[in-house]
Amino acid sequence: MCDPKDPDYQIEELRVQIEYHNYNYHALDSPEITDAEFDRLFAELQRLEALHPHLIVSGSPTQRVGSAPLKKFQEVTHTVPMLSLENAFTDADLAKFDHDICTELKLSKVAYTGEPKLDGLAVSIRYENGDLVQASTRGDGTTGEDITQNVRTIRTVPLRLFGNDWPAVLEVRGEIFMRKKAFNTLNTLIIAQGGKPLANPRNAAAGSLRQLDPTVTAQRPLSFICYGLGIVEEPQEPLPTNHQELIYYLINWGLPISSELSYLKDLEACRAYYQDIGMLRDSLDYPIDGVVFKVNSFAHQAKLGFRSHNPRWAIAYKFPPEEQLTRIEAIEFQVGRTGAITPVAKLRPIQVGGVTVSNATLHNIDEVTRKDIRVGDLVSIYRAGDVIPKIGQVHLEHRPKFSEVTKLPDLCPICGSKILKPEGEAVARCTGGLYCPAQRKETIRHFASRPAMDIEGLGDKLIEQLVAKKLVTAPSELYSLELSQLVNLERMGAKSAANLLTALERSKTTTLARFIYALGIRDVGETTAQALTQQFHDLNSLMHASNEALQNVEGVGLVVAEHIVTFFQQLHNREEITRLLQAGLQWSSTNVPKKIPNMHLEGKIFVLTGTLSRPRSQIKAALEARGAKVSGSVSAKTDYLVAGADSGSKLTKAKALGTKILDESALDLLLKEAQN
Ligand code: IVH
Repeated sequence: MCDPKDPDYQIEELRVQIEYHNYNYHALDSPEITDAEFDRLFAELQRLEALHPHLIVSGSPTQRVGSAPLKKFQEVTHTVPMLSLENAFTDADLAKFDHDICTELKLSKVAYTGEPKLDGLAVSIRYENGDLVQASTRGDGTTGEDITQNVRTIRTVPLRLFGNDWPAVLEVRGEIFMRKKAFNTLNTLIIAQGGKPLANPRNAAAGSLRQLDPTVTAQRPLSFICYGLGIVEEPQEPLPTNHQELIYYLINWGLPISSELSYLKDLEACRAYYQDIGMLRDSLDYPIDGVVFKVNSFAHQAKLGFRSHNPRWAIAYKFPPEEQLTRIEAIEFQVGRTGAITPVAKLRPIQVGGVTVSNATLHNIDEVTRKDIRVGDLVSIYRAGDVIPKIGQVHLEHRPKFSEVTKLPDLCPICGSKILKPEGEAVARCTGGLYCPAQRKETIRHFASRPAMDIEGLGDKLIEQLVAKKLVTAPSELYSLELSQLVNLERMGAKSAANLLTALERSKTTTLARFIYALGIRDVGETTAQALTQQFHDLNSLMHASNEALQNVEGVGLVVAEHIVTFFQQLHNREEITRLLQAGLQWSSTNVPKKIPNMHLEGKIFVLTGTLSRPRSQIKAALEARGAKVSGSVSAKTDYLVAGADSGSKLTKAKALGTKILDESALDLLLKEAQN
């Protein structure tokens, strides 16, 4: 019946061999054959499958990356919810956990299993009759996302279970993560390609899993470790009766499990395990942030049951955040895409939690001043959970003798324009708006946007290409683009290139207000641009206006006036304006818009709170232009509270007083109405 010459037989034989070697290599880290031999087996399977395409099945090792990119992830409902774990941070927390369990079970001691708590993402993988049919994220515990195509690309995830004694339906639960070495290599590659490095292995794993295109995930070095079960239907053999036994089942089915898993006979053994793994933590190649203890016996687990979000029979005992000492070798000032200047500490490279750290953000100059952080300082670097490395303590006793106070530079390190830091604002900014390469993409995007020059067809992707290929380094250069340059760009046909040129030509006839807005002066929104136009009528007067004169304009306070004056003071910006005018941008003095006639919000008192998407000064200007007042605190006189994310006491107070509360979209609506 089984003729070894049969392609069916040969193909099946090769698949079993390949999966076996795959498992040895990826899950056990102990290959039995050379890479070349493995490649030969794989190539042979590919050859046979190509000859007999009807024999290809989705479980074949050649089919790990099989499908086209998705538009979006589908939802998956977890019949057995994916719960989280209660945390313990101290020995006392752990003792209480054990004490409660012993009391509930009326036992003097209870046996547990200990496993490292992997720092990755929980996943549920469903096998039907031994074949992987679905993989999903945890989501909110009840509904997750279908990431089957991506999980199939992970080498340690079997596409087909080993043996044949598995239940007809078997859901396994585990963690997908990125090994530290793989993470560091990936980041080196990203940096070499000019990309932004990933913050930590956990983010790297999450980002890799959430790719709609499985070919991208396939290139990311992800791993999987299995630690439990979800739904199980129609078992063929009696199911295991404890966690330790379950692990043997999982191993036999070819599922990777943690090599550090231990049986722990009581609380004392748990304590020792926590210490042991803590010592091993740095040398392990996978990121962990604690250990997980589970009551070993399933009968005991069933008796203990669940709370709303976590089982009573398990706990995660977390490690304290890791800290390391290193020196600050330099402090650089980076320029963001909106011109924000961020101080960054360049560190003597150091391993923290297994990840090489050589940079730490210092957020803003005020923070640097407050902590008095200087070049040469010895500092503690820590990573807590999934956050980016931070500077903790500055060890002043080790400060070099002649260290200097860190100062905000006067000029932008990228373009040499003046840096401005308005009173009371934490963020300093480069004023080289139109000129600064760091702000190029953002400047052009803003310039082309609908309320500005309204250049149809000039979207983000196109801007990215134009900037990357250095076809456009400033907005004025948009107007010298040629058809031959455009047609060579990705996703650009002759027709859309011609349309873009027409749109560029059309945009040249504009209004002064649009032009002023398009310049992207900090805090000068559409309303302020209009108000400026009404006051100054022509560009030249605006460019020479004094700070005081500007403050007479509705919505322009001290800070905005300073932004305007400094913007026009920069030679680069003036030169760019000249180039724009030379390119043919024009407006007639007759289309200066009328003053906003309606003061619908006259006398109304607004308070702003929480995180808002635009600078407060901008919202304030828009409100004041419509006759409203903006106050700093909520009282019975307040008419509206504009509440962004994370609003705190002001929101509570406004609620108590019955003040009308607006979110940003409600505010926009109100502003729009007040303008008509
Ligand atoms: S057991 C019903 N074991 O930790 C509880 N979880 O905070 C199921 N995790 O969402 C979890 N390593 O992503 C378990 N050895 C391990 C784990 C582990 C990491 C994660 C898992 C879970 C989270 C809970």
